[in-house]
Amino acid sequence: MLLTLHLLALGIWIGVVGAEFVIEFDGMKDDESHIRASKLHYTTDIWVEIPAFMTVLITGLLMLSEDHLSGLFLYKVLFGLFAVAFNIVGVYAVFKRRKYAMSGDIEGMKSVDPFMKLSAAIIPVFLITFVLAMYIVVQ
Ligand code: HEM
Repeated sequence: MLLTLHLLALGIWIGVVGAEFVIEFDGMKDDESHIRASKLHYTTDIWVEIPAFMTVLITGLLMLSEDHLSGLFLYKVLFGLFAVAFNIVGVYAVFKRRKYAMSGDIEGMKSVDPFMKLSAAIIPVFLITFVLAMYIVVQ
C-alpha cells in the first residue's frame, strides 16, 4: 500500500514538474506572461506539487528500515531527500514571487530568479534517484 502510494505520487510529482517547466517557459515572453506564470505556478504548487512530494517523502519515511540505510539504497534515499529539498527551495521562490506578482512588482519577481534556477536541479537529482531505485530492483 505504501509503496503503491510512493510510486503513484512519484509519477504525479515528476509530471507536474514537467508541466511547471512549460508554464515557466511561457512566462518568459513578457512581463504580463511572467505575472500569469507566477500565479499559475503557485496554484499548481499548492494543489498538486506539494501534496505529491510530501506523499513521496512521508511514504518513503514510513517504509524506511535499517537495511535501507546501507549500500546503494542509502544513496537512493539521500538523493530522494535532495530532490525534496530542491523542491522546497522552488516552493519558497514561487511563493515569494507570487507575492511580488500580486502587486505587479516585476523587479521583486526577478529577485527570486537565483532560487528558481537552483530548484531546477530537481530534474537531474530526481532522475538519479529513479535510476538508482530501478537499478536496485533489477539487480
Ligand atoms: C526523487 C525521489 C524518489 C524516487 C524517484 C524514488 C523512487 C522509488 C522507487 C522507484 C521505489 C520502488 C523500487 C525500489 O524499491 O527500489 C522506491 C521505494 C522506496 N523508497 Fe523511494 N523514491 C524517492 C524518494 C524517497 C525518499 C525521500 C525516501 C525516504 C525518505 C524513499 C524511501 C523509499 C523506500 C523505503 C522504499 C521501499 C523499498 C522496499 O520496498 O523495500 N524514497 N522509491
